[in-house]
Amino acid sequence: MTQPRLLLIEDDPAMADSMVPLLEKLGFIVFHVDRGDTGLAKALADPFDVVLTDVWVPGIDGMEVARRLRKERARLPVVVMTSRGTTETAIEAMKLGAYDYILKPFGQAEVRGILDAAVEASRTMNDPVVLGPDIHDGSAMIGRSRTMQSVYKEIGRLAARPVSVLIRGETGTGKELVARAIYQHSDRSKEPFVPVDCSSIPETLLESGLFGHEKGAFTGADVRRIGRFEQANGGTLFLDEIGDLTPGTQVKLLRFLQERTFQRVGGRETINADVRILAATHRHLETQISKGEFREDLYYRLAVAVVHLPPLRDRKEDIPELVAYFGRRHGPDLGSPNPTFLPGAMEQLAAHPWPGNVRELENVVRKSILRAQGYPVSREQVEIVLAAALKAVVMPGMATAEKSLRDLASGLLAEAEAGTIDDSRTRLLALADAELIRQAMDRAGGNQAKAARLLGVARLTLREKLKQLGLHGDSISGESGGDP
Ligand SMILES: Nc1ncnc2c1ncn2[C@@H]1O[C@H](COP(=O)(O)OP(=O)(O)OP(=O)(O)O)[C@@H](O)[C@H]1O
Ligand SMILES: [Mg+2]
Repeated sequence: MTQPRLLLIEDDPAMADSMVPLLEKLGFIVFHVDRGDTGLAKALADPFDVVLTDVWVPGIDGMEVARRLRKERARLPVVVMTSRGTTETAIEAMKLGAYDYILKPFGQAEVRGILDAAVEASRTMNDPVVLGPDIHDGSAMIGRSRTMQSVYKEIGRLAARPVSVLIRGETGTGKELVARAIYQHSDRSKEPFVPVDCSSIPETLLESGLFGHEKGAFTGADVRRIGRFEQANGGTLFLDEIGDLTPGTQVKLLRFLQERTFQRVGGRETINADVRILAATHRHLETQISKGEFREDLYYRLAVAVVHLPPLRDRKEDIPELVAYFGRRHGPDLGSPNPTFLPGAMEQLAAHPWPGNVRELENVVRKSILRAQGYPVSREQVEIVLAAALKAVVMPGMATAEKSLRDLASGLLAEAEAGTIDDSRTRLLALADAELIRQAMDRAGGNQAKAARLLGVARLTLREKLKQLGLHGDSISGESGGDP
């Protein structure tokens, strides 16, 4: 990845002197100017990934910089720096289109967090998603299968219409890619795209994060906050993992979809916002409705326009093309400019069920290339990577396997209840199996024939199991035992 370019607008020389090296250390190519008007001109003339500006700078102030850039470079995120006295101003800057604000003095971790998010936002908006073919620049959405062809058609059809869209599909199937493609092909593509991952924001902060809050709305609300709806005005808001919305937030979203209005938390003023909603979920909303977790009326509102992404196992004919694409994309960084996969390796990939879908395939391709060290990737190498992945699923529980079966079962069920896993039974059985096999191998001193007798399974079966677990004969702890 190329180094991100940052424009720093700061007139205090001491501050600038300390910030430039810090920002460079964080990986930015930094351009520094000490006036708002020169900064604006520079941002309009040259390509940047993010602008970091102080509120009070000579020429035009940071607010004006944010406002002008929102108008003319809506896809360039602006972060406004402020000190205590000017916080309100910085907050207003978000209404004018600033991406975020940061309070001085700030620590390295804080500024890094905000700037990383801004750069990520900038990439999401500016990195084009191409549907179908792989043309070296930007991201491509790969797959010529019938189901993917109809997904592309749907994207094209919906992008042009001003409707909300619900994007559904298992984890790793490309929902975010679809959201970006819809945005980029819409008539709002010059306006900002604001993603919000509803599952990663604590429940208590989600509603105010989306809709904002007034000063004093609740304990801790010591300043007003502008929410993402207001901030995305004119643009597109991407609500990722919408199945995780709290009941209160669901009501507010429904009202917004019906009337295009909302109120900040603790506020009376009715606010209008012109925002296009794209939503995504990997959850089965119908089940959530039957359990009373998701509002049926909201579901019907959202389900008017749906893009459904097929799981990878239902479009295995796309695997070769995806493998070639990820190979070209990641090979050079992995020391293999032109990675190839032998037919046996491809067979192995085709046989895998891909519970993690395209994301999982991308990881497996990367790891296999790394393992092959510049040579064509073999069947064995793919096998080892797939086995290690399985082990990673099983192993986190291994540490807890010392706990009683009873604790283990209740732990898994609690996770299932919390929605973090959906295969508690498979996991428990896999854990028990792995533990029994590990102990048998220990007892047998690594002798497979003896371990197989202890387990009451055929030796061949045991060998298969060991392979799946990434445990090879006597090298029980390593995944390297079976390297060709
Ligand atoms: N059809 C595709 N062609 C190329 N790359 C893809 C495709 N689908 C997904 N990817 C890649 O796979 C990874 C996961 O995709 P994405 O984040 O869009 O999935 P998601 O459905 O949002 O997953 P989750 O539910 O876990 O959030 C990304 O790196 C993405 O670029
Ligand atoms: Mg996603």
